[in-house]
Order: sequence, then structure tokens, then C-alpha cells
Amino acid sequence: MTIVSATAECLLPQDVKIVEVGPRDGLQNEATLISAIDKIALIEQLADAGVSYIESGSFVSPKWVPQMATSSEVFNGIKRQENVTYAALTPNLQGFEAAVAVNADEVAIFGAASESFSQKNINCSIDESLARFVPVIEAAKAQGLKVRGYVSCVVGCPYEGDIAPEQVAKVAKKLFAMGCYEISLGDTIGVGTPESVKQMLGAVNKYVPMNKLAVHFHDTYGQALTNIYTALNQGISVIDSAVAGLGGCPYAKGASGNVATEDVVYLLNGLGINHGINFDKLLHAGWFISDKLGKAPISKVSNAMRAKQE
Ligand code: HMG
Ligand code: MG
Repeated sequence: MTIVSATAECLLPQDVKIVEVGPRDGLQNEATLISAIDKIALIEQLADAGVSYIESGSFVSPKWVPQMATSSEVFNGIKRQENVTYAALTPNLQGFEAAVAVNADEVAIFGAASESFSQKNINCSIDESLARFVPVIEAAKAQGLKVRGYVSCVVGCPYEGDIAPEQVAKVAKKLFAMGCYEISLGDTIGVGTPESVKQMLGAVNKYVPMNKLAVHFHDTYGQALTNIYTALNQGISVIDSAVAGLGGCPYAKGASGNVATEDVVYLLNGLGINHGINFDKLLHAGWFISDKLGKAPISKVSNAMRAKQE
């Protein structure tokens, strides 16, 4: 990793990869159903803005998450760009097969550090979920597809409160050992602060190298950007975010949107870190989907830039 600036407290990466989760994590919690055509337009606008990794849908039960029911249509409709990874969330083999049928480039499995959240979210215990992921990983390997692993509730759980860093480390270690190429650490309800994030990352890093970890912060308590800055200083260089700060998890009561991609890009620009995204095009993609949802973006940067243009 090349270092942009190095002081006793600051070791920032030169390049950061943004994993755009807006079309999946962002939209899955929105009550207004967005048509497949509009989802496709959003994904194409994001790709056109230079976003190189887009989680474009999920193959979960449509009874559980109705907004994602059009994921096959979406994947089939995207005009793909060669340098862009179009990924899908898959909880089990049934979801994996559906993702493969529409040529998803990569899949993601999603576990949790909290037993209660695992039950509410995917209807099984942590151990059962890991057992369900084994055939998904095997099938993915056989097809030459990479598998990303999520751990939810890495700082706190809506049902259990604080989550011990060691518990997060245990699940992350297992997912990594099973063959996930990257582990995304999700502060699902956005309760983390720099100190709790630092401790959690330190615990996970005992088993998984920093360059195999990503951070996935929801911004419920307004801490996401400061947590990202902390994570960057710890050696993290992959950040999950959602355009316009959309979303949340339907099974995490009170959880609000992911950190907005616009806010992350603004921060990275200020730090002189490369990310490959055209800020202006990204802003327009955020305004496009926010207008479809009939609400303002949940992004201070996006709203400030829109006010300036009007
Ligand atoms: P289940 O009911 O335990 O599954 O659900 P089952 O195997 O008993 O099957 C029951 C029914 O679901 C059957 O249909 C299956 O066909 C169907 P029926 O016979 O009743 O008509 N089914 C499926 N349908 C479509 N796709 C599938 C699939 N699997 C079974 N893949 C299941 C288990 C996991 C499917 C369910 O609990 C579910 O879909 N949960 C939704 C979970 C979800 O999408 N949560 C939000 C994403 S996670 C998140 O947001 C957190 C993250 O962002 C990180 C963070 O922020 O922390 C990643
Ligand atoms: Mg999430």
C-alpha cells in the first residue's frame, strides 16, 4: 500500500475502492417500489460516473424483501461496462443459482455477529447460516465466481445492544477461512464511534488482513464519516456506501441509510485519495433516484451542491 501522508497518527491509503450498495442496500428498505427500468437507469448512471463495483440487487425471498423482487429483470436489463463488477446478495444456494442465471459477476453472502439479528434477518442461527454458505461458496468456486462476505452488527445490534469485538472477529475469521475474498464489516444500525470501530477492527485484524476488509457504515447517529476516517487510518481501503445515503435494513428497526457515496467522495477528495469517481455525474445519479423516491438525498454534500446549482 502506498502512503499519501504519514504522521504518528495518520496512515492514509493512496487509493480507495468504493463499493456502491445503493441499488441493493439503499433501495431494499424503501417503501416506494422503484421500477426495474429506473433501477437499471440508476445502475447505468453510477457506472457512467466511474463506480467500478455496484451491488445491483439481491436474490432473497420476495416475501421478505419485496423491493428486490425485480433483481433478475434488473441484471438482465443493465447495459454492462467491462470494467464494472455487478454483484448480487445471495443468502443460500437458491439465491446463488438465481444470480448465476442472470450472470451476476460476483455474489455476497451475509452473516451476522449477533444471534438475534441472524434469526430476524435470515431466519437461522449464526452457525446454521455458515453451514448454508458452504454450498454457495463451493458452487461459486466451481463457476469461478468470487464471494464477498458480510458481517452485520459489528458494533451493536438492535436486539442485543453492544456486540463484543471478539464475536465479530470469530465470524469474520470463519467467513474468510471459508473462502470469502473480502469481509465487509457492517455497522448495521450506525451506532459505532471511532473508539468502538478501532477496537472492532483491531480484533478482526488478528485473523483477517486489513487489505481483505471493507467497512460498511450506516449513518443513523451521524458517525459514519468520522468512522470511515478512523478506518482509513487503520489501513482500510475499501468503503461501502450508497448514493444519496439511501436505505437501511428491514430487519434492523430504526436503522437509517448507508453513508452517502457523495459524502465519502467529498471526504476522499479533501484527503487527496484517488477513487475514480466523477463527482458531478455521481451527484446527478443521486438526484435522479431521490426524485424517483420523492425525497431529498440523505447527504449533506448532495443537498449543498444542489442548492448551489439552483
Ligand atoms: P426461510 O423462510 O427460512 O427459507 O427464509 P426457506 O428455505 O424455508 O424457504 C421459504 C420460502 O422462501 C420458500 O418459498 C423458498 O422458495 C423461498 P415458498 O415455498 O414459501 O413459496 N426462498 C427464496 N426465494 C427467493 N430467493 C431465495 C430464497 N430462499 C428461499 N434465495 C431467507 C430464508 C434467507 C430466504 C429469508 O430469510 C430472506 O429472504 N431474508 C431476507 C434477508 C435480507 O434480504 N435482508 C436484508 C439484506 S442484509 C443487510 O441489509 C445487511 C447488510 O447490508 C450489511 C449491514 O448493513 O450490516 C448486508
Ligand atoms: Mg447495510
